[in-house]
Amino acid sequence: MTGTRHNLIKPTVFALVLSFGVLLATAALLGTWGRVSAAPAADDPTNTQSQVDNSACLSCHGQPGQQMTLASGEVISLTIDENHYAASIHGSRDITCVTCHPNINGYPHPVLTAKNLREVAIQMSGTCEKCHTDNYRLATDSVHNTALVSGNENAAVCSDCHNPHTQTQILDPQTKQILPAARVQIPQTCAKCHNAIYDEYKNSVHGAALIGDGNPDVPTCTDCHGVHNISDPTTAYFRLMSPQLCASCHTNKQMMDKYGISTQVMSTYVADFHGTTVTLFQKMSPDQPTNKPVCYDCHGVHNMTNVNDPQYGLSLQKNILTTCQKCHPDATTNFPAAWLSHYIPNPKTTPLVYYVQLFYKIFIPTVIGGMVLFVISDFVRRKIDRRKGASHS
Ligand code: HEC
Ligand code: HEC
Ligand code: HEC
Ligand code: HEC
Ligand code: HEC
Ligand code: HEC
Ligand code: HEC
Ligand code: HEC
Ligand code: HEC
Repeated sequence: MTGTRHNLIKPTVFALVLSFGVLLATAALLGTWGRVSAAPAADDPTNTQSQVDNSACLSCHGQPGQQMTLASGEVISLTIDENHYAASIHGSRDITCVTCHPNINGYPHPVLTAKNLREVAIQMSGTCEKCHTDNYRLATDSVHNTALVSGNENAAVCSDCHNPHTQTQILDPQTKQILPAARVQIPQTCAKCHNAIYDEYKNSVHGAALIGDGNPDVPTCTDCHGVHNISDPTTAYFRLMSPQLCASCHTNKQMMDKYGISTQVMSTYVADFHGTTVTLFQKMSPDQPTNKPVCYDCHGVHNMTNVNDPQYGLSLQKNILTTCQKCHPDATTNFPAAWLSHYIPNPKTTPLVYYVQLFYKIFIPTVIGGMVLFVISDFVRRKIDRRKGASHS
């Protein structure tokens, strides 16, 4: 009994081990294939076989308190925390130090040509290109690179936003969506250099929700500006296209219902005399500046508040008035009253406008329709008359 059982188990175990082995081999093959195809096979940077081992570098750089003084007098820390590195996205992918520092393969090191901290960051960020070619190319068109090329060394390069030794995963490997923890970090990343804007943003209706509550619905800096190919937001083109940017969320009913916010803000904007002109402008001459207000002229950009905010809210008459006065300096208290804001006219709150619009809705089709009918019947009449005339002769 036991014997036969034993015999039955043996082949099963054998088959299991065999299929596991096949699986492992396939996985290994796929793994290598994936890596090689990610980078040019010829100088596959992830090939660590012939390279100096990280432990050689870390024997010195793993020690605390290592530092050097640059020509500028600035001090740079040379300590790389071994555990942080191992936990980083690059360390966890077994990328060696010398892959990114190819000019160094032991000690002494070649003489460092960078004179100050900015030059270190700018020179060494060139190393990202070999593996992240796409982002590197994208970044060449960004405002940051344009500023850099024209001599502004303070503009952001890769290592300003991504510490190569500690950067963790940003995209969810499955969905390719940005991980919530990484998204919340973005404003802080930009704040290193744009701290005045960050300070406004963090108290705004959008920023407070992201930074305070980790709310994924509100826009972070990169939703409005892009990431690696940030464009100049002060151009006429950006201004004209900005209502669409806001509309991408503010016309999303499912999202806005959560906050009880009207989704008609875009359609009412387009319908009003300001928006109509901006929309026409976009179609005709997208590079010409417009003096008509876009959403952020009234709502602010980085400091947008809830419209019912007791101090800055736009639903307060005095705040609307100051907004209008930016462009209509002579406007007085009842000026904004003439404007419908985002509200759809209705017989209760704005009876005059409602009935005037209703009148036009009926009047115009009736007049035009009547004219069309007249033209057609006249045409038909003439045809009939002519035919009659022809048959009579
Ligand atoms: C014997 C100790 C030692 C070893 C081993 C060592 N370094 Fe260094 N490293 C230093 C010192 C000291 C400096 C300060 C500048 C100098 O003396 O050249 C430095 C500076 C650096 C710098 C910054 C400035 C520069 O010169 O580029 C980098 C990057 C660097 N090391 C990377 C590495 C890498 C990668 C390895 C492994 C291949 C490594 N180091 C191995 C001691 C060491
Ligand atoms: C993914 C690429 C990458 C890897 C991997 C990498 N480095 Fe760096 N390293 C850089 C860049 C880029 C800089 C310049 C950072 C800056 O100052 O903005 C840098 C700077 C340095 C510096 C100068 C101090 C500093 O922080 O600026 C040292 C020292 C250094 N690296 C050592 C190492 C060691 C040791 C390893 C391996 C444990 C390693 N690096 C792995 C890209 C890398
Ligand atoms: C040797 C190739 C190599 C180099 C050079 C390199 N990286 Fe990476 N990097 C990788 C790999 C592999 C991953 C993991 C990709 C993944 O999981 O999708 C990665 C991941 C990242 C991520 C996170 C991506 C994500 O989706 O979560 C960032 C950010 C990043 N690298 C920035 C940099 C920067 C900045 C530099 C230059 C300082 C650099 N890398 C240099 C290979 C490299
Ligand atoms: C001004 C800051 C900034 C600079 C400069 C920057 N990045 Fe990023 N990067 C980000 C942010 C923020 C994200 C998060 C993704 C998002 O917001 O869509 C990101 C995402 C990434 C990712 C993962 C997502 C993806 O697109 O694959 C990689 C890889 C990456 N960056 C590499 C680089 C490299 C290489 C450079 C230099 C050419 C660079 N970054 C320059 C801010 C920056
Ligand atoms: C290392 C510093 C640094 C970091 C980090 C940084 N920036 Fe910048 N940024 C600059 C500099 C410098 C300029 C050029 C300023 C100028 O030309 O007036 C600039 C310009 C800009 C501009 C164009 C401004 C204009 O008036 O044309 C935008 C938009 C911008 N950055 C957005 C961002 C965003 C979004 C982030 C974060 C994802 C970010 N920056 C991170 C330094 C940085
Ligand atoms: C809701 C969309 C939105 C968000 C979120 C946003 N911005 Fe802006 N940003 C704009 C618009 C629109 C402009 C153009 C404003 C103008 O021309 O008056 C602008 C202008 C800028 C400028 C250049 C003009 C200036 O005032 O110097 C910088 C730099 C900038 N933003 C950085 C940031 C940073 C950093 C964050 C995150 C903390 C951020 N922005 C978040 C829409 C946004
Ligand atoms: C001429 C000024 C002006 C312009 C332009 C403008 N708004 Fe408004 N908006 C207001 C005022 C004033 C309110 C306050 C409430 C009201 O009276 O409708 C408001 C209210 C809002 C609200 C809150 C609605 C609610 O249900 O609580 C949102 C969201 C909004 N606007 C978004 C936008 C967007 C998006 C655009 C561009 C497509 C835009 N606004 C253009 C002045 C303006
Ligand atoms: C990524 C999506 C997204 C984008 C893009 C966006 N918003 Fe919002 N906005 C939200 C969400 C979500 C809220 C509600 C936040 C809350 O109440 O916690 C909100 C709130 C607001 C409010 C306050 C409404 C109230 O209840 O009083 C105004 C005003 C506003 N946004 C205007 C704008 C303008 C103007 C733009 C374009 C410059 C814009 N938003 C771009 C998602 C977005
Ligand atoms: C960014 C500038 C700007 C802002 C802010 C602005 N407007 Fe206007 N508005 C204009 C321009 C430009 C015209 C077109 C004037 C023309 O064609 O003669 C206009 C036209 C008008 C008209 C049509 C009658 C007229 O004077 O030609 C009214 C009514 C009006 N705006 C009301 C308002 C109200 C109410 C506000 C505040 C909630 C406001 N506007 C905010 C720029 C602005």
